[in-house]
Amino acid sequence: MAMAVQVFLGGLACIFSTSLLFQLLVGPCREGVFFCSQSSTKGPSTAIVSERYRTAYHLQPPKNWINDPCGPMYYNGIYHEFYQYNPDGSFNPNTSYNIVWGHSVSTDLVNWITLEPAIEPDTPNDIKGCWSGSATIVSGDQPVIIYTGVIDIEKHQVQNIALPKNRSDPYLREWTKAGNNPVIQSGVPGLNSGQFRDPTTGWIGPDGLWRIAVGAQLNGYGAALLYKSEDFLNWTRVDHPLYSSNASIMLECLDFFAVLPGSNNGLDMSSAIPNGAKHVLKMGLNFGEDVYVIGVYDLKRDVFVPDTDDSRLWPRIDYGNFYASKTFFDSKHGRRIIWAWTTETDSSSDDVAKGWAGIHSFPRTIWLDSDSKRLLQWPVEEIESLRGNEINHQGLDLKMGDLFEIEGADTLQADIEIDFELTSIDDADPFDPSWLFDAEKHCREADASVHGSIGPFGLVILASDDTEEHTVVHFRVYKSQKNYMILMCSDLRRSSLTPGLDTPTYGGFFEFDLEKERKISLRTLIDRSAVESFGGGGRVCIMARVYPVSLVDDNRQPHMYAFNNGSATVRVPQLRAWSMRRAQVSV
Ligand code: FRU
Repeated sequence: MAMAVQVFLGGLACIFSTSLLFQLLVGPCREGVFFCSQSSTKGPSTAIVSERYRTAYHLQPPKNWINDPCGPMYYNGIYHEFYQYNPDGSFNPNTSYNIVWGHSVSTDLVNWITLEPAIEPDTPNDIKGCWSGSATIVSGDQPVIIYTGVIDIEKHQVQNIALPKNRSDPYLREWTKAGNNPVIQSGVPGLNSGQFRDPTTGWIGPDGLWRIAVGAQLNGYGAALLYKSEDFLNWTRVDHPLYSSNASIMLECLDFFAVLPGSNNGLDMSSAIPNGAKHVLKMGLNFGEDVYVIGVYDLKRDVFVPDTDDSRLWPRIDYGNFYASKTFFDSKHGRRIIWAWTTETDSSSDDVAKGWAGIHSFPRTIWLDSDSKRLLQWPVEEIESLRGNEINHQGLDLKMGDLFEIEGADTLQADIEIDFELTSIDDADPFDPSWLFDAEKHCREADASVHGSIGPFGLVILASDDTEEHTVVHFRVYKSQKNYMILMCSDLRRSSLTPGLDTPTYGGFFEFDLEKERKISLRTLIDRSAVESFGGGGRVCIMARVYPVSLVDDNRQPHMYAFNNGSATVRVPQLRAWSMRRAQVSV
């Protein structure tokens, strides 16, 4: 079977027969092949301590450990991002009880200035750590932070308020803790006071009172406890939770917001919510999975009623390395923005040696699809200011086995947008609904070397010269009873030859009307050790961390390819890739 790899050089298409090449790239796992399914444990043991793994345009402070985004807001022309920050080093400060609110500011969500920490543990109400929380702009011009204080080594938790010391300081550098802290104490029957944290941004109910939700463990189950206030300083608990679920023993990092089906205009939770809006409750389940539930906020009963209670079907905000996400309403552009904490996947001793650990995902606009079933996410358009030279290809046909090398862009810092057009969809393999419960397993088993009728097709990135190292982001198309189901995978199993890394295979399904729209889009942001992908216009998103050994060598650029390994030919009407400049994120 003769295959072809088309390599376009300076606009000239070089097509050469590659039956041999492609046979090398697929098939049973052995050295030097793409798409192998077993995880790599051999090869040189390279320390991860290279500066070249440090991301160039994802937010992180100049050094040390970070985790959750906290209290994001737009105020007087400035975006503020706070985060859980360890001032003592690049290790998880869980046992040193000294986590603070780090603080960075920006005018464009791309370039950031790091300021001194905004909130530190220095009162009895937070002496063992200032944990996550939110910001609310009260009465249009008063920013208020509400955060969790840890009060002892048993990690008992209360909720505190902090206010800017001087509202005319454009950066709001200094914050003063409220005199009446803690504004919320545990003391609720059945509440585990060691699992009571992460208050949400406030919203106004029909009675004109402020409300917030606090994540908790109530009688052994996860709950979103509801509190009301007239002035945002004095709070009383509503006697029923906004929502509770046995899907997790605790709900961390809650987020509650309204969305209008089919509109990417964001809604401000401190203004009237228009008719027809749906509400979204985002919950951190099982201390590591950010899921969301779309539903209705029943104003009469003051409860959130999900469209489905079957927690096995709750979609993830992102199917990769993405937790503790938080949204805010950006009044400058009238949109809602989300971001999250992405961990390192190396060892904690490597993190200490590197001097930094943890990044935030690139800020994304988030909105509801017109069928009200799915949230869509897309990197904020400001990212385009980082785009350098553009590579553009049109009208490629990828037959089964084709690899097309995308050359000319910086393959370590790139933004790639590619459309895959399906020439025929009749032969799609049948979909088994039980796969929905474990998409990752399906991605592991049906990896990129396994031919399907339609797919796998996608991108191979960060590939070494000898192809031993590579990361694959790909799709498969299935026919379900009513519609088409698309599986998106991000397979990291061959992403690095360094042993001891966490190299999972991430995956998620989305429903797609292929009769109407024949194109499936993939956008991937490569930022050195971060690979952030958006499938089907942002229906499934997968954030990942990778540490290819080949990236450490200054003289080599990894390779990047589009490929198809399914029987049906896939057209690429448009492929655009940009080299990405370094943002100012660590100043
Ligand atoms: C989530 C979390 C939060 C907590 C914070 C502490 O990652 O555990 O629930 O407030 O981190 O840093």
